Amino acid sequence: MNQEIKILAIESSCDETAAAVVVNGRDVRSNVISSQIDLHTLYGGVVPEIASRKHIEKIDQVIEQALSDADMTLKDIDAIGVTYGPGLVGALLVGVAEAKAISYAAGIPLIGVHHIEGHISANYIENKELEPPFLCLVVSGGHTHLVKVTDYGKYEILGKTRDDAAGEAFDKVARAIGLGYPGGPKIEKVSHEGNPEAISFPRAKVADGVYDFSFSGLKSAVLNYLNGCKMKDIPINQADVAASFQKSVTDVLVDHAAHAIDEYHMDSFAIAGGVASNGTIRKAMEEMCRKKGVKFYHPSPILCTDNAAMIGAAAYYDYLAGKRAGLDLNAIPNLKLGE
Ligand code: KG4
Ligand code: ZN
Repeated sequence: MNQEIKILAIESSCDETAAAVVVNGRDVRSNVISSQIDLHTLYGGVVPEIASRKHIEKIDQVIEQALSDADMTLKDIDAIGVTYGPGLVGALLVGVAEAKAISYAAGIPLIGVHHIEGHISANYIENKELEPPFLCLVVSGGHTHLVKVTDYGKYEILGKTRDDAAGEAFDKVARAIGLGYPGGPKIEKVSHEGNPEAISFPRAKVADGVYDFSFSGLKSAVLNYLNGCKMKDIPINQADVAASFQKSVTDVLVDHAAHAIDEYHMDSFAIAGGVASNGTIRKAMEEMCRKKGVKFYHPSPILCTDNAAMIGAAAYYDYLAGKRAGLDLNAIPNLKLGE
């Protein structure tokens, strides 16, 4: 394609204020992320009120930086893509209101993007050859979805979590063993010093949904184990607990993915979302895909966790499909994929 479609993307669904400029869906010209992690660490998790307030403080600056890093002004931009759900309503509203204001003032078309569609689309950025159909496992702090990407913007959800998301389980277990927030990267780090076979935690299966996940049982098993140790006055080996918990999550994720690859005869498999930056999970997925002769895709860690480049990638395919939002676009905290 000769024509360049330049999209300014905005993401503010949780605790990162982010803006990016993406050309033709795959060429990231800028990717600015202002993380609030340090602020929320004090409270052991994301505080929605604080998140909204910080987004308001940062959003203008982040957008200006994204345009200037891309060496562009609003005059160069063909469309604005913004996450409108799912996420924290107050946080989402900041991005949506900002995007609408720019769209109205500068006369630039507006596109509402689903956050999970963004995570999936992060895979397009560094894997230029990746095209649907493929299977994608989205594992983040809020979501655990096994999705069949049938076409750009077309998704079939094969399974999802019945309770906690994978990242949420990482965060809760990390807190229980005294590692603090955000749990995922901390558990991954200490697990390198631990033995993944030291403690046998359950690999949860959901009886009536082959591809559904359940992580709250695993979290309870870890808490029970910790309580048991305390009561018996047995010292807790933090690294062994972390490594054994991580192994249990990895086994379940790989098992579900392998099953879906076989059933749907897919030759490409991708992972996405914050938990997809976990090295142990990646390695296990890579190994499984290699054995099956399936191509394995994953974004770089910076494109796994929340960012706006992935929203720009998703918005491009929505743009090509003619999807446009009006100035009545609203934040939808529980937006379903495919709506
Ligand atoms: O995608 P994301 O930035 O935000 C959501 O959309 O939820 O994901 C954040 C989640 C957190 O739960 C965090 O603990 C987890 O991703 N995470 C990880 C790792 N890095 C981030 N989990 C496991 N291993 C990691 N290296
Ligand atoms: Zn996310």
